[in-house]
Order: sequence, then structure tokens, then C-alpha cells
Amino acid sequence: MKYTIRKATESTSTEKNAPMDIAAPKRNKVPRREKFVTETETSFAETERFVDLAVAPIIFFEDVSKQYPSAASPALDEVSLEVLPGEFIFLVGASGAGKSTMLKMILAEEVPSQGRVLFDGRDISTINRKHLPYYRRNIGTVFQDFKLLPQKTAFENIAYALEVYGKPTEEILEEVPQILEIVDLDDKAGRYPRELSGGEQQRVAIARALILQPKVIIADESTGNLDPRSADEILDLLLEINALGTTVIFATHNQSLVDKTNKRVVTLDHGRIIRDEQGGKYHLPEKRRREAIV
Ligand SMILES: Nc1ncnc2c1ncn2[C@@H]1O[C@H](COP(=O)(O)OP(=O)(O)OP(=O)(O)O)[C@@H](O)[C@H]1O
Ligand SMILES: [Mg+2]
Repeated sequence: MKYTIRKATESTSTEKNAPMDIAAPKRNKVPRREKFVTETETSFAETERFVDLAVAPIIFFEDVSKQYPSAASPALDEVSLEVLPGEFIFLVGASGAGKSTMLKMILAEEVPSQGRVLFDGRDISTINRKHLPYYRRNIGTVFQDFKLLPQKTAFENIAYALEVYGKPTEEILEEVPQILEIVDLDDKAGRYPRELSGGEQQRVAIARALILQPKVIIADESTGNLDPRSADEILDLLLEINALGTTVIFATHNQSLVDKTNKRVVTLDHGRIIRDEQGGKYHLPEKRRREAIV
């Protein structure tokens, strides 16, 4: 079987045995993105509106607030956000703005104190605990610290992601080389993480996320430890994956990556969304900009 990245329009139910409510999101509560679009971009905004009506969001934050028990102020404060299948979104904001909290909610690692997060129309908080591993197969994760297993080679790190789901060995032997080729590491399959550069390790991590053919890739500051060239390569790879239909949400402090990419940029400040722009730029309020790690 040739490796294919799932197209955004394909059927979305992987959790066949999980009894779930399919709830239609309350669309009228979502801040409309086109209100941030300038006049010169009107025709693009019109197209967006049309697409918006035709496609249900893959991820939908509905008035979500998060109050961690030990914290003085909420990490998220009435956040509403819809992410359409196939979108590429930068999530930006100063340290502590709430980016990782949002990503953890998508992964069902944190639950909202108020509001709901829907994935494919399902309220994530209603997923039965025993079904969470199946649910999480929908989401590939790429983190700043790579999270590779040091005693396994690049090949084995990727294969391991399939082994834990009980994939037959023949399929693993067929699929891992294909994915290594996609991330341009076919010549380094036998290397251990310590024998790879940071950028190469991050590409192994992306390959490991991709091998499960997720609908969404979540990258949390995943270029944070890389030099500018490696960071560019990781961004290019994520853009390629996105072009094949996978939704990408990329939380980052890297202004130059955001500014040159011309994708949707969602800006958080103190747990609130303060900007949401198509073709946006990295923009923080003046005070936050001084505090931000860039
Ligand atoms: N488990 C927790 N318990 C208490 N407070 C937390 C917890 N996790 C996060 N917070 C707080 O919630 C707020 C948002 O944190 P979050 O990690 O989402 O920010 P972030 O935007 O990802 O920041 P960074 O850019 O530094 O990664 C911060 O004030 C943080 O201190
Ligand atoms: Mg974070």
C-alpha cells in the first residue's frame, strides 16, 4: 500500500466503536474572520465566507475558558475559534498567553472549565477515557524537544509509532521507508537521535507524527531549538504536508516564519484572541512584544 496523506474531505470517523454525539457547532458565536480583512482583500474574504458555509470546522472552540486551580487568572478567557479542514494556522502570543493550553485541549490533555472544544463536531470532553488513544490518532504532535527515543534509530522511532497500534511487520517495513523519503531522511534511517542534527531529529518527529496519517498536525514551538535554516526546512515540510490536505496548527514565537508565510495568524493575549487574520503577520501589543521571546 502506497502511503497517502489523508485528504481533508475524507470521512472523519476513525473511532468507529465510540458512541458519540455529533453536535452541530453554534456558528453564530464565532467571531467572523472576514471582519479583520482589509478592503483590498474583499474578494478573498468573499471566497472565505463561501467556503465557511460549505465546510464544517474540524476543530471548534466554543466560548472556552480555562482556570487552572492554582492560577490567579484564567489561562483562556472565552475563546471561540473555528479551524476548517485543510487550514494552516499560526497561533502566536507572548509566553503564558494560552497557546499550549489550547493545543492540550485539542489533545484532550486538558479540559475546559467552561465552554466546549469540538473535533469533527464531537465534544472532546465526552470521549470515553478508553477511546482516547483512538481519538488521539487523529492528531499528530510535533514538540520543541522532539521526544524521540534515544535507544532507537530514526527508522525504529517511526516504526514504534506503528508497532504500538499493532500494525503487521510487512506494512511497517513498507511504510516507514516511504515516510522517511517524504522528510528527506531515507539515507539516515539507521542513525540514532544523538547522531542527527536538531533539524533532522525534528524531521524524524514529523515523520513519526505523519505515519499515523493524522487529520491534524499540532506543532508547539517545534522550531524553537533550531537554527534559522533548519527552522525554515521544518516550516516548508509542514506547508507541504498541509498542501496535501492535513490541517496544521503551529504555535510559535518565530516572527520571521510567520511573517513570510502569509497564512492565517491567530494572536492570543492573556487568554483572549485579540487578532485573527488571513495572510496575517506576527503582531503583539507593544508591551507584550517587549516581553516575548523572539
Ligand atoms: N498545569 C498548570 N497549572 C497552573 N497554571 C498553568 C498550567 N499550565 C499552564 N498554566 C498557566 O496558564 C497560562 C497559559 O499557559 P500556556 O502554557 O498555555 O502558555 P503559552 O502561550 O503556551 O506560553 P509559552 O509561549 O511560554 O509556551 C500561563 O499563565 C501558565 O502559567
Ligand atoms: Mg507553550
